[in-house]
Amino acid sequence: MSQYQENATVTHVEQFTATNYRLTLDCPAVAGSARPGQFVMIRTGRGKDPLLRRPFSIHQTSRDGTIQIYFKVVGRGTDILAHVKKQETLSIFGPLGRGYRLNTGTPSVIVGGGLGIAPLLFLVQENCRVKKDCTEDLIVLGARERIEIEPLLDDFRPFGIRIMTATDDGSLGHHGFALGILESMQLPSGCTVYGCGPEPMLAGLSSFCASRGLPCQVSVESVMACGMGACLGCSRPDSKGNYTHVCLNGPVYNAEDLQWKM
Ligand SMILES: Cc1cc2nc3c(=O)[nH]c(=O)nc-3n(C[C@H](O)[C@H](O)[C@H](O)COP(=O)(O)OP(=O)(O)OC[C@H]3O[C@@H](n4cnc5c(N)ncnc54)[C@H](O)[C@@H]3O)c2cc1C
Ligand code: FES
Repeated sequence: MSQYQENATVTHVEQFTATNYRLTLDCPAVAGSARPGQFVMIRTGRGKDPLLRRPFSIHQTSRDGTIQIYFKVVGRGTDILAHVKKQETLSIFGPLGRGYRLNTGTPSVIVGGGLGIAPLLFLVQENCRVKKDCTEDLIVLGARERIEIEPLLDDFRPFGIRIMTATDDGSLGHHGFALGILESMQLPSGCTVYGCGPEPMLAGLSSFCASRGLPCQVSVESVMACGMGACLGCSRPDSKGNYTHVCLNGPVYNAEDLQWKM
């Protein structure tokens, strides 16, 4: 699969909460070859601070040659990104990694927690484009509070997928975790489950799906220095006790292929 390094012009900057931002980047080569679940490495600083590119899921692509990233400020690199202005350029490299393998012959149940919602808009976009009708499918969006989900809802609605929400503080939808919604309902028969979110959520989702015999694909995070298999910094144990490199073999895995800490 082709990868590109592009100087992407920032065409749109959105701030949703005190820490959550979305950038639209004009990078036709990356946009044209990206698949849902893949990520890009972005050089956040102009000089050597920070030295290394930072990984971000591709949130959405558009036919006009743009991609979006949706991110939270957690440190130096994301803080710099939060301050970029329209028309500035960012060096991006991608698309990288193995994304979701769409099982379009079965109903889809898509589950996102916190910033794990980031790659799911692209997944819904592609899922619904290929299926043409995704009214049988479901997406469950979970977060700590309403403000972390609400600004994104209008982007999910046009696809016709059923949307359910869960918040830790009960300010939107189910009061509790996204997984709580799945546990309390009858899922479409023979569905494929796709997830992205914090590690404990994914561990719970993996166990939930295993106990019901449902195929489950999850996108996991790992600290990454190179994003292309050269530094071995992103390794994590798989279910056979070997090490897998998240940047090359992931970030999307069959949940049963990974080792989970419960
Ligand atoms: C494949 C992949 C896709 C990602 N997609 C997104 C996304 O769509 N949106 C988003 O907001 N973030 C995403 N991340 C996480 C993002 O890369 C980190 O938040 C970012 O690199 C932090 O950079 P920083 O310079 O701001 O923070 P740093 O100063 O490098 O670190 C600040 C803190 O964040 C922790 N941290 C750094 N990287 C990670 C990581 N990968 N996972 C968990 N903790 C980390 C550090 O341990 C430290 O405590 C993704 C990570 C991966 C591996
Ligand atoms: S991040 Fe360097 S090998 Fe995966």
